[in-house]
Amino acid sequence: MITLLGWTHKPTENSLIRQILQMVPIIDLAQLLRPDDKLLFKNKVIAMTRIIESLREEHRNIEELLLVLEQELSVFDRDERPDYEIIKAIISYFQDYPDCCHHPKEDMIFEKLKLRDSNAAESIGDLEAEHHNESKRLRRVADMIRAILTNHEVPKQTFDNIMRDFIEQERRHMKMEERLLFSAALSALQHEDWTGIDARWSEARDTMFNVAIEERCQSLRERILQWQRKHRENWITPHADPQTKSQH
Ligand SMILES: [Fe+2]
Ligand SMILES: [Fe+2]
Repeated sequence: MITLLGWTHKPTENSLIRQILQMVPIIDLAQLLRPDDKLLFKNKVIAMTRIIESLREEHRNIEELLLVLEQELSVFDRDERPDYEIIKAIISYFQDYPDCCHHPKEDMIFEKLKLRDSNAAESIGDLEAEHHNESKRLRRVADMIRAILTNHEVPKQTFDNIMRDFIEQERRHMKMEERLLFSAALSALQHEDWTGIDARWSEARDTMFNVAIEERCQSLRERILQWQRKHRENWITPHADPQTKSQH
């Protein structure tokens, strides 16, 4: 129970926090509370903000790579040879990063949401299955690129369909999470849920294994974006690669 600006809140506490967060910095907000509530409230807001903001930032990072993939697809659609090294690097990022650093946080939030608001959780569906399907779509992309690079024939339409399906389904999934999962979690999860998730995540993230994967993925992502910037300059004078096969 929190008294804020002269009145007491419980059921609408989270929606109030969200509204106020848009107007008042966290530190200023803490000044508005009674001393007893201050620490509890501040810890919750910090944990909640840190988790949701990190997920949103990861979505923005993923979108940057999807844009690169989309640009390579448009190169392919112009009957030119896409940069398969960039595509392979993006595949490698998606093979490691989401399962190591992104999905576990969403899964923890979803587990709590099932307990706090089962209707909202039901409207989201099976998040675990969605994440599993992402891996299956990525495997199809990886298999197809491997086939092309080992001189197997891949019809142009197949290439287009598989790449476009991966890009579009990734975007759909992230949009659904931002619209349904994150907003439902912000409304329904309680103080102990956010601080619990934050603590569990910090513990999991700090293992040598996860830190190494995260660092590798971040540097891979930066290199992909650098390559892409360089290539964009070269696109001013694009040319087809005469050595490519019919599928490029
Ligand atoms: Fe997800
Ligand atoms: Fe996500």
